[in-house]
Amino acid sequence: MLTATAVRSTVPGAPSLAPGGFGADLLAALGQRPRSISPKYFYDAPGSALFDAICELPEYYPTRTELGILQAHVADMADCIGPGAELIEFGAGSLTKVRWLLDALESPAAFLPIDISGDHLMAAARALQHDHPTLRVFPLVADYTRPFHLPPVALGRRVGFFPGSTLGNFTPAQALYFLRMAARQLVGGGLLLGVDLIKSPEVLHAAYNDAAGVTAAFNLNLLHRANRELGADFAVDQFAHSAFYNAPQRRIEMHLMSRCRQSVTLAGRTFEFAAGETLHTENSHKFTVDGLRDLARQAGFTPGPVWTDPAQWFSLHWLQAPTH
Ligand code: TRP
Repeated sequence: MLTATAVRSTVPGAPSLAPGGFGADLLAALGQRPRSISPKYFYDAPGSALFDAICELPEYYPTRTELGILQAHVADMADCIGPGAELIEFGAGSLTKVRWLLDALESPAAFLPIDISGDHLMAAARALQHDHPTLRVFPLVADYTRPFHLPPVALGRRVGFFPGSTLGNFTPAQALYFLRMAARQLVGGGLLLGVDLIKSPEVLHAAYNDAAGVTAAFNLNLLHRANRELGADFAVDQFAHSAFYNAPQRRIEMHLMSRCRQSVTLAGRTFEFAAGETLHTENSHKFTVDGLRDLARQAGFTPGPVWTDPAQWFSLHWLQAPTH
């Protein structure tokens, strides 16, 4: 298994305030109102493990619904992808879903899983390589919300796989930016994209407010991470998980809400939180099938087949990339 990493090295004990890193972004988030930070910072090693636990929760329907659609229609999806493809997965995580796809593909040329969570990705890639000894697996530790380089020479028709409705965690403008970047990277190939659909607010609400409190722990881990990595002094038990469906904006919003008036110190600076004030940690936009197809067209893709479950809770889309 060959590896290429695009990770910045940090000096142990010296919190990194490098531009575009967790420290700099958290400082900027705390200094603005309303306060918000990119959800990509959830995914340190404990965060990635908590996210795997979320995917197993009874309330969290997206993972099992998407996997069900994938299993039911994987042969049709493999037909769209074609033989000898170079498959690139964005935000690959634990590589559970892609195994079904890889098993159905005709002689895939290579598999490039990309993730920001380095140790988690490398362990998952090693396990996959073990089960697929002849597949060329090239894990890439990178932040795909920013421009990054794929190997200059593709080993086959380039096809992207972006499941989990991670596209919904971008703002609409970021989603369009990402899709435009993907359309260029995947010229001549296509993108298999999974997005969550609009449904009853009760079902949506429960998915992000599980009874076991795993989603709350995942959200709060961001503050633990800041304390661990950046030497911040968040009193984590004085913050509450708050997630709700914002119907007019068609998105779940997730926040960390201060339970009281308090102050936090980060990199020698002090920030006040009023009681009830929040740090906005994530959006999860919900789509309609037609809305997603319009967005894909704006980014330069030609939308193809769409697969959904019988309840229409989740959707997988084949999007043809430009030919040149
Ligand atoms: N892409 C997933 C989603 O929007 C990410 C996710 C699921 C998530 N559950 C979460 C992120 C809970 C933060 C907290 O559904």
